[in-house]
Amino acid sequence: MQKLKEEVGRLLASRTSLEPAEVIQLLEIPPEPTYGDLAFPCFALAKSRKKAPPLIAKELSEELGGEEGLLWEKAVSRGPYLNFFIAPRAFGREVLQEVWDKGDKYGHADIGRGGNVPIDYSSPNIAKPFGVGHIRSTVIGHSLSLIYSALGYNTIGINHLGDWGTQFGKLIVSYKRWGDDSELKEDPVNYLYKLYVQFHKLVEEDPALDDEARYWFRKLENGDEEAVDYWNRFRQLSLDNYELIYNMLGIEFDYYHGESHYNQMLEEVIKLVQEKGIATESEGALMIDLEPYGLPSVMLRKKDGATLYITRDLAAAIYRYKTFNFALSLYVVGAEQTLHFQQLFKVLELLGFEWSSRCVHVPFGLIRFKEGRMSTRAGKIILLEEVLKRSIDMAREIIEEKNPDLPDKESAARAVGLGAVRFGDLSNDRIKNIEFDWEKALDFSGETAAYIQYAHARIFSILRKAGTEYTRWDDSAASLLIKEEEVTLIKTLALLPDKILASAENYRPSILARYLIDVAREFNRFYHNCPVLSSEDELKHGRLLLVNATRQVIANGLALLGIIAPEEM
Ligand code: ARG
Repeated sequence: MQKLKEEVGRLLASRTSLEPAEVIQLLEIPPEPTYGDLAFPCFALAKSRKKAPPLIAKELSEELGGEEGLLWEKAVSRGPYLNFFIAPRAFGREVLQEVWDKGDKYGHADIGRGGNVPIDYSSPNIAKPFGVGHIRSTVIGHSLSLIYSALGYNTIGINHLGDWGTQFGKLIVSYKRWGDDSELKEDPVNYLYKLYVQFHKLVEEDPALDDEARYWFRKLENGDEEAVDYWNRFRQLSLDNYELIYNMLGIEFDYYHGESHYNQMLEEVIKLVQEKGIATESEGALMIDLEPYGLPSVMLRKKDGATLYITRDLAAAIYRYKTFNFALSLYVVGAEQTLHFQQLFKVLELLGFEWSSRCVHVPFGLIRFKEGRMSTRAGKIILLEEVLKRSIDMAREIIEEKNPDLPDKESAARAVGLGAVRFGDLSNDRIKNIEFDWEKALDFSGETAAYIQYAHARIFSILRKAGTEYTRWDDSAASLLIKEEEVTLIKTLALLPDKILASAENYRPSILARYLIDVAREFNRFYHNCPVLSSEDELKHGRLLLVNATRQVIANGLALLGIIAPEEM
């Protein structure tokens, strides 16, 4: 597709006031394939030509008349657009060659030029279980970091753990009074959560507990050794548990800089806010009035001197800028915190940081796991770990049934089980609430990871049967593919780079996920209608090159969603 864009870029630059790069920048993929394969919107020429865009499109199409390029064969106007139609043989050869040459880098680009992009994601709260609520941040954030890396950015994964706050006072009190060492060791996250819930029950009868908790939190803030020891222990045990989940998902963070990491920086931040004169103080409380900007005011410090979630986020944002001089700074956090981030970014702007415009909140809706076969006892939080294990178990059963002779069922079950959860999340527009339905997520013929993975495994089996004599490039074999199903599949494969780019620009891995469904679907249609292994030699070779390119596109795409592409399943 890149070559076609360059060709069209040169052509239109020679007939307009635009530079080739400007034309390329403007080119679009038409919403309907019947409109054409590449569209040039004529709006940018309205000024220089002093005409309405539809007229310009028409003029250009007439000027081009019977002309044709190497990779396109006709250009037609439609409203304000000039639409180009590809020349199947040359375009097919070109696309297959590009995939062939770039291999596992096909679709990648270097628009990031090494710019730093810290991505704040996952960020669970200690002493509260890693519930499914955090799965979305984990999965979307991880995929965005893979996508941005593929575009040449240097991504930095930051786990902004909720590891500070008054809940630690409550935990310390609970633990000192009722804590049980062996229970803590056995299942730290659930146990801490149990203590936390219990505290909230008991405090209703005994309000003094609250004072005690505040007392212990103050001790913690003042660096009291006993308090810090407890905190450290709770934090580490929780982290160990989170790491199990991250390992399962193949996720590594560059930093576990939780809220506590910024404690030493808070004073300086408060001083900065005061110096800038954007805050008001009353009885020790520090507020920033955001009413003029249509936002609720924020409190950075309470009367008793305690700082807040947003104070630490303010310090974190400034720290990230100083440390990484970022091109973009992403926060993958649920939509319920939209206001928080609006306030945060506004305060940064008021502080005069021009880079505040590079901070982006990437919100998402809720996920609900349909009970189905999840045996959740009433009141118990569904843990991500259980969800993942359950999904793998179900995938194992399905594979057992579908392919009892498969040698490595365990790997396939993991790939499909984990893929189902990830894809179930990623394939939906992130802003929507989703209801995760096990049966649907694991349906091999639905719009699922398994459907795409299955196409991938099927391709492997075709390539294995074909043997190695066809795994070499051949120009003329690659120019033979002109059947409708072949051409459509080739055009689909050509879109991967655009889809990756669009996923990044919109912070929406769902664009890539939906696209991979199209690829698998078009592949199946092709394979159903075009015999591969039984075709005569040169055509067989050409089709195998197309099959192999499809394999590459699926593998590259799934990799950016963090989903394994199995060779067999
Ligand atoms: N721990 C928070 C929560 O679970 C999410 C933190 C998101 N990141 C941030 N910089 N505020 O709600």
